Amino acid sequence: MERGSAMAQARIGVTGLAVMGRNLARNLARHGHPVAVHNRTTSRTKSLVEEFGHEGTFVPAETPEDFVAALERPRRLVVMVKAGAPTDAVIDEFAPLLEPGDMIVDGGNAHFLDTRRREQALRERGIHFVGTGISGGEEGALHGPSIMPGGSAESYAALGPLLEDIAAKVDGTPCCTHVGPDGAGHFVKMVHNGIEYADMQLIGEAYDLLRHACGLPAAEIAEVFRTWNDGRLESYLIEITAEVLAHTDAATGRPFVDVVLDQAEQKGTGRWTVQTALDLGVPVSGIAEAVFARSASGHAQVRAAARGLPGPAPSRLEEAAAFADDVEKALYASKIVAYAQGFHQIQAGSAEYGWDVDPGAMATIWRGGCIIRARFLDRIRAAYDADPALTTLLTDDHFAEALGDAQDAWRKVVATAARLGIPAPGFSTALAYYDSLRAERLPAALTQAQRDFFGAHTYRRVDRDGSFHTLWGGDRTEIPG
Ligand code: 6PG
Repeated sequence: MERGSAMAQARIGVTGLAVMGRNLARNLARHGHPVAVHNRTTSRTKSLVEEFGHEGTFVPAETPEDFVAALERPRRLVVMVKAGAPTDAVIDEFAPLLEPGDMIVDGGNAHFLDTRRREQALRERGIHFVGTGISGGEEGALHGPSIMPGGSAESYAALGPLLEDIAAKVDGTPCCTHVGPDGAGHFVKMVHNGIEYADMQLIGEAYDLLRHACGLPAAEIAEVFRTWNDGRLESYLIEITAEVLAHTDAATGRPFVDVVLDQAEQKGTGRWTVQTALDLGVPVSGIAEAVFARSASGHAQVRAAARGLPGPAPSRLEEAAAFADDVEKALYASKIVAYAQGFHQIQAGSAEYGWDVDPGAMATIWRGGCIIRARFLDRIRAAYDADPALTTLLTDDHFAEALGDAQDAWRKVVATAARLGIPAPGFSTALAYYDSLRAERLPAALTQAQRDFFGAHTYRRVDRDGSFHTLWGGDRTEIPG
């Protein structure tokens, strides 16, 4: 194709045709949207059109200039490349070719602070930058992801109908909405991933307890998860867990889960969630324990050195079925806590950056398409519908009742894990967070006194306003701080 010869035939364009980008372009084409496609390696562009050209209208472009020329105004460019420097490089390549009113959509897992930086820089050139979380992996990109676009309201007016058209649908509602300005979309996607880590950790602990406290074989645990997936724990993650646990390794005939190296990796979004929560002062202990559990699993040398440390003698629980029921309750209660923490972080980020994110809307677009999709999200949406100013999901009537019903089982599971020496950091931290919120008094009072003793950092009193300091090195009288 000659440079600049392309007519402006495409409604939207996708550059970066690795699997996610390619599937997103196919999804757009399948929905009748003429889509321009470009990839630095042009063979990928050619193979996409050759293999899937029958699915809709693709406008292949070999150069950035041809790609831009193929787009109707306002131009909508979707960038699907690795987060970080590669994204900056693509922006630097395309921005000079664009005109005010055009928009660049970043569909990668970018850090929201990078998105805020990029959005501001491009806004100064009249170009919209739309950091967009896209969840659901390769299958989701093709068949309907959950889409979390940030950016300006004006850009959403031009992009929203297209994105909502290709998003997953639940009860006819698209799993896509305008999350909020600048980095809000990537922030919410980051928290989605943090919640995903916590959810996966809790599921892992439930499996580990059934395997090692009850001695159930993987195939039987698969059936337990299948049963749970028919109830309130129904979710994509529970569903795939049953599939994985039922799978037999072809090479050895052993349960597949037993031949996988038990060292979890992480691309980084869960870590970002915790780092950001620390800066915001939001205790996302469930997500943090999940991130640290992955890190701990990877320290093979430390684990090998610690293997011989003393612990309880191995023992098996007799009543596996009853314990499995307890684990289901502990899992649901701990999941409520982890999601409550994640939504607290969304509310804190929204307040910090002035985004006005609607937590109920986030629950709504997470009901389908994304990795944490679940019936459970409907409950969260209902909680915020009932009280948009809810300070914590824990106090929503449904969740408070479920937490009350789970008390004995939850505490029994955490105690059993400790007694048998089975690590359950997710279950344990969820219970500790729950109890710390309920506590009439916390040992933080002692912490404040200690800080004043060694650092004169002052403290406040329960019976008077103001800050105070005690002259610990002198006559221990109290003076205003
Ligand atoms: C999604 C996923 C995706 C995530 C990968 C790997 O929402 O589709 O969360 O964004 O990056 O699944 O994640 P980790 O390597 O961090 O586990």
